[in-house]
This record gives sequence, structure tokens and C-alpha cells, in this order.
Amino acid sequence: MEPIVVKNLTKTFNGFKAVDSINFTVKKGEIFGLLGPNGAGKTTTIKMLVTLLKPSSGEAKVAGYDVVKQPNMVRKNIGIVFQEPTLDLELTAKENLDFHARLYGLNKKRREERIKEVLKLVDLYDKANLQVKKFSGGMQRRLEIARGLLHFPKVLFLDEPTLGLDAQTRRKIWDYIIEMKEREDVTIILTTHYIEEADKLCDRVAIIDKGKIIALDDPENLKKMVGEDVVSLTVNDPERLIDELALEEIRKIVRIEDRLELSVVKGEIMIPRMVEIAQKVGVEVKSVSLRKPTLEDVFIHLTGREIREESGKNAFWRR
Ligand SMILES: Nc1ncnc2c1ncn2[C@@H]1O[C@H](COP(=O)(O)OP(=O)(O)O)[C@@H](O)[C@H]1O
Ligand SMILES: [Mg+2]
Repeated sequence: MEPIVVKNLTKTFNGFKAVDSINFTVKKGEIFGLLGPNGAGKTTTIKMLVTLLKPSSGEAKVAGYDVVKQPNMVRKNIGIVFQEPTLDLELTAKENLDFHARLYGLNKKRREERIKEVLKLVDLYDKANLQVKKFSGGMQRRLEIARGLLHFPKVLFLDEPTLGLDAQTRRKIWDYIIEMKEREDVTIILTTHYIEEADKLCDRVAIIDKGKIIALDDPENLKKMVGEDVVSLTVNDPERLIDELALEEIRKIVRIEDRLELSVVKGEIMIPRMVEIAQKVGVEVKSVSLRKPTLEDVFIHLTGREIREESGKNAFWRR
């Protein structure tokens, strides 16, 4: 039995489909990511899987148990780290963990062993007796992740595990999560809107937008959907240039404001040709860049929008 099986799972809030008939299966021992912009439905999905929200329709099994019919069994077998911190800042790290371990009925000896083990896993053992309010944001996050693991869950849920942390701290947390996966017998599902996090950390990624899963694969295969190279051209008259760029070698053009994102095969050959065409028709090129596709490009490719942007600016499609 796969640790997570989701079938046509849907959540409607007053007629609005926050999660719209999603399907996926998470395999044992993998790190599975839900990647999507703010409001895509990631947290709502997680809340249904951890039995905090009742699905409007569809079904889900976690650790072999139905989230609606067997919520207590689901809860026993999972660990959760929420988007919002839930540590008691007045208590020490060890006290926070001890409280949690008692809730799960671990006896004293087991508690002590396990607390030591998980604190070591996130490099906080020497801070065990320090009040959590003296911890940095990154240390607090690590402690929460350790707490999520304390009772030997079969499945660990991480909702935006590095939200708001700086890039360096974020990378360190990825290392801990990877180490956790290697050392503990646990399957991990996480949500993120950070492209790099999904790419570096996840074995497979489901890209979610407006409540729907629009692509699901391992990061390398997802990037292959876009093609070999992405050229980004910022110009003063994008529509004009699109009309002129009817080149065979351009697989797809997406416009985001004054920027064109072009999926091409040989970027280094295409750039001079495109610049030449722009000059010929009097379109001013303000900047050019070439890169290998990222998961952001996959999202742009599929939706015509960027993950990062908050407001859904307009983009237009060609071909
Ligand atoms: N309790 C709720 N009542 C009404 N709308 C909600 C509620 N929770 C979430 N939503 C809406 O559902 C959508 C998905 O939210 P959420 O799952 O939190 O997205 P994400 O975690 O991907 O940012 C958003 O449009 C959000 O405003
Ligand atoms: Mg969320």
C-alpha cells in the first residue's frame, strides 16, 4: 500500500473550488512536493490529508487509512509541520519535544532516547535546554521538523518548510530533510512556492495551480517539457517582435509584460538571429538572457504566468 493515495480530492469553499479533483500517489520513502503559487490550494490539500479539513468530495488514504473514515488512525501515523509556527516560545527545546512525546504516549525512557535522537538529527542537541524564544527562525524551523518526527510517523507533512527563511538557512534545512529521509523510515510530502526547493529536494513534484494538478513528474522530466534552452528577451514592443519571430526553431513564446520567454533548441545560435530581426524591424532590445529551463519555466510554459508573482499579470500565448 502506497503511503498516500489521493483520488479526485476536492474542497469547495462557498462554491469556490480551492482544490479541484486532484489525483496523485506518493511512494514509500520519497520526498514528494506540491509546487504552486500562493492560493493554489496546497495548504488546503495538506489539511484534508491530515484530517483537519473534510473533503467536499473524492477520497484519500494516508498510511493505509481513509482520512474521513479513520481519522484517528491517520493522525497516529503522521507528523505535521504547519506553515505557521506552533512552538511554545517560553519552553526549552527539550520541553517542547517532551510535551509532544507525552501526547503520543511515549514512555519516559523512550522519550529521552528519541528526543536526543531527533535533536541530533537537526543539530540542536547542544541547545536542548535553551528557551525557544532565544532561537533564530531557522533553528525554530529545525526544531519543529524534529518534533514532527518524534513519534516515528510513517508520513511527514511539511507545509512550506522554509517559508520566510533566508536562502542560506533554507539550504541547510534541505540538508536536514534529506538526511532525515535517509536515516528515518519516513515518507515526506511538502508544499512550497520556492522553485529551487522543489527542484533540489523532491524526488517528484506535482505542479498545482488554481486547485488543479497541471503536471506531475520528477524535476528533470518536467524541465524537459520546456525544451533545451530558454531565452528571455526584454523589448519595447513585444507584440511587434512576436509577429516577426516566426522561426521554425522557436518552440513556444510566452509574453509577460515587456518580456518574451522563448523555448528554443540552441539558444546561443538563436540569440543573434533574434536580435538581428528585432533591429531590422526597429524593436529595441533592452536585455537578453539565456538559461536552462527551471521549474519556473515549466510553470510559465503551462500557465503563461510566473509562480512568484502575486497578482497574476497578463501573459499571452503564441503557438
Ligand atoms: N477556510 C477558507 N475559506 C474560504 N476560502 C479559503 C479557505 N481556506 C483557503 N481558502 C482559499 O482557497 C484557496 C487556496 O488556499 P490555500 O490552500 O491556502 O493555498 P496555498 O496554500 O497554495 O497558498 C485560496 O484562494 C484561499 O483564499
Ligand atoms: Mg499555503
